[in-house]
Parts: sequence; C-alpha cells; structure tokens
Amino acid sequence: MSALILQDLVKSYGSVPALNGVSFEVGQGEFFCLLGPSAAGKTTTLRAVAGLEKLDSGTITFAGRDQTGLPVQGRDIAMIFQSFALYPHMSAYDNLAYPLREQKLPRAQIRQRVGEIAEMLRLSHVLARKPDTLSGGEQQRVAIGRALIRRPRLLLLDEPLTNLDAKLRHETRAEFKRLHRELDMTLLYATPDQLEALTMGNRIAVLRAGKVVQVGTPDELYDGPVDRFVGALIGAPAMNLVTATSAGAGALETGFGRLDNGPWSQALGGFGRGESLLLGFRPHDISPLEPGAAAPLTVQAKIHLTEPLGDITVLDLRAGDTTFKMVLPEEKAVAYAVGDEFDVSIALERTHLFAAATGTAIR
Ligand SMILES: Nc1ncnc2c1ncn2[C@@H]1O[C@H](COP(=O)(O)OP(=O)(O)OP(=O)(O)O)[C@@H](O)[C@H]1O
Ligand SMILES: [Mg+2]
Repeated sequence: MSALILQDLVKSYGSVPALNGVSFEVGQGEFFCLLGPSAAGKTTTLRAVAGLEKLDSGTITFAGRDQTGLPVQGRDIAMIFQSFALYPHMSAYDNLAYPLREQKLPRAQIRQRVGEIAEMLRLSHVLARKPDTLSGGEQQRVAIGRALIRRPRLLLLDEPLTNLDAKLRHETRAEFKRLHRELDMTLLYATPDQLEALTMGNRIAVLRAGKVVQVGTPDELYDGPVDRFVGALIGAPAMNLVTATSAGAGALETGFGRLDNGPWSQALGGFGRGESLLLGFRPHDISPLEPGAAAPLTVQAKIHLTEPLGDITVLDLRAGDTTFKMVLPEEKAVAYAVGDEFDVSIALERTHLFAAATGTAIR
C-alpha cells in the first residue's frame, strides 16, 4: 500500500521552473530515496510534502488523506533540513525536548521520551552539553532525535549527511538503516549521492530538471537504466560510454569491431544502418582475459593510469583512440603496471546501448 502519493507536482519560482510534473509513490514503511543533481528539485519536493511550499498544481496524498491545503502541523510529518540548526543556547536535552514542550506534554513523559531517544541515538552522555561542544556527528544525531521525538509517521530528510566527513557519513548511513528497521517509519530521503541512495534506499526515484526520469530498486536502476544519464549516475566509477553505429540486422560497429548478439540486438533490429549510438559497459564488467581463453567481446588494451583505492584499483585503459575504465580487486591489480598491454574481456551480456542524440536506452 502506498503511504505517500505525489501526483504531477508543478512549481515555478517566478520564471524559474523547479518541478515540472513530479509523480511517484512511496510504500508504507519504505526507505525511499530521491536522487538527483543540484537544482533538480529535491528540496522543493520535500518542502511541498511537508506543507512548506505552495504548489502551482498537483496533489499530495499521505495515509489516504489529501494534504493539499492542510496546515504544516496537521501533517504528522517531520523534516530534517539540508542545513540543520540546533538551538545554540539550549543543551542537547532541551533541544530534544523542545518539540514535546511545544506539545505541552507532562514533564515526566518528556523526560522518558528524551531518555529513550537519547539511548537509541547514543547521546545519553552528552545531554547536558550545548551544541557547540558536540562533535559534528553528535550534533547531527541531536537534529535527527529532535525530528524523531514527535514520532512522525513520515520523516523527510534533505541531504542530511552533506556536512559530515567521510567516516561519519559511513556510520550515519548505517545508523539511518538501523533506525528505519527499528522504527517502522516511512522515510523520504533526498541526496545527490548515488552511493547513499544505492546503499540505503529500498527504492530510488531519479530526479532531473524537475522531472522523475526513473523509479526502481537499486538493482533495477543499476541493471536497466532508462537512459545514458541514469546509466552514468548510478554506480562508481561511472559506466563507460563509447561511440558506435548501427550496422543493420541488430549488429553494431564499434572501435572494438563488429558486435552482435548483445542484449540490445533485437531492439536494434528496428534501426537502419548508420544510426549514432553509445555502447555502455561498467568498469566492474571488464576483466583480464585468461591466457588461451575466448570471450565474445575481447579488446587489446594498454594501461594508461592506475588509481589504487584501497580494496579496489581503477585502471584507465586505452584501445586505439577509445579510453575506458576497469575495476580490479587490489590483490589482482598488483600484477599490472602503467604501459602493460593485455587482452580484456567485456561482459557482452551486461552491455547497454543508448541513442546518441537523445540518450534513451535501446533494449
Ligand atoms: N526560493 C526560491 N526562489 C527562487 N528559485 C528557487 C527557490 N528555491 C529553489 N529555487 C530553484 O528551483 C530549482 C530547484 O531547486 P531545489 O532547491 O529544489 O533543488 P535541489 O535538488 O534541492 O538542489 P540541491 O541539491 O542544490 O539542494 C532550482 O533551479 C532553484 O534555483
Ligand atoms: Mg536541496
């Protein structure tokens, strides 16, 4: 059952269009990510759901009720903003208690609820301190606690990890997943970071220029991007894209030679010869060809650059005037050096094909 339904949201700021017909549905209890670059409309969408933004048109339904025109307080929704602000003159305890005092809850109950949430967020030992004496991660957790303490049924999070360092981001991602499991709450989480969306989201909506271009599970987006932009956005390092032309009968002419029997061959059969295309393949779908082995798509490549990243190494390869990236586990990568030439195999069945002019996937 869908908890939250957005239908055709349209919003402009003067002559600047922010939302151009945003629609998606979030299931009850789902961790749903809104992934898109800067200015895609993520904050505007969340603010509209929270009731902070008046739409030009469109409807928002939450828990079976039309939210349009409902006051912010009536929505049972909490939002954590991109730049969260704690009350600097209040202790962590008072920051957490604030929303409950607003609701005029009895003192004993406030004490109990703050205690619970502080324990859950591992803040019990810092409750007496003011925000400026807390670490970035502790401040962030106080902000999360303040949003959770009213027990909203829907929590909106706007790039909540942006101001944290890499280690804290990693920890807080795990924290959000745990909270989501424990609290049975619906989460709508906006981020420009594909890794956050892939690791936390049950499903993801990709937003671009105020429009949802694709909705799916992390696997669906990774394996079947609707266009080259989603293909390049999801997964790191980004999908390799090389130019190609249709050669008739479902075949493709590429810098690697003529290819047929790809997963796109049948769809490509409808195209005439000479159509400009882009062949996409992920750096994880390339491997060195074992000596004596054969594969449907092999390329002789030369290592131009190596980039060790800890457990994996990214290799920049050149074949003719084509460049592309390959990822190897670190223990395999140590055998290779800049300048080495060798055959690689690209998993043909995992390649993608896009129309060059529009970027649309051919499949
Ligand atoms: N108050 C405003 N006045 C005028 N234009 C605005 C306002 N708020 C947003 N916009 C414009 O609307 C578009 C969408 O903005 P929005 O803040 O929703 O993007 P975003 O996806 O949250 O981006 P970011 O990742 O940078 O936060 C942008 O072009 C932005 O400049
Ligand atoms: Mg934003």
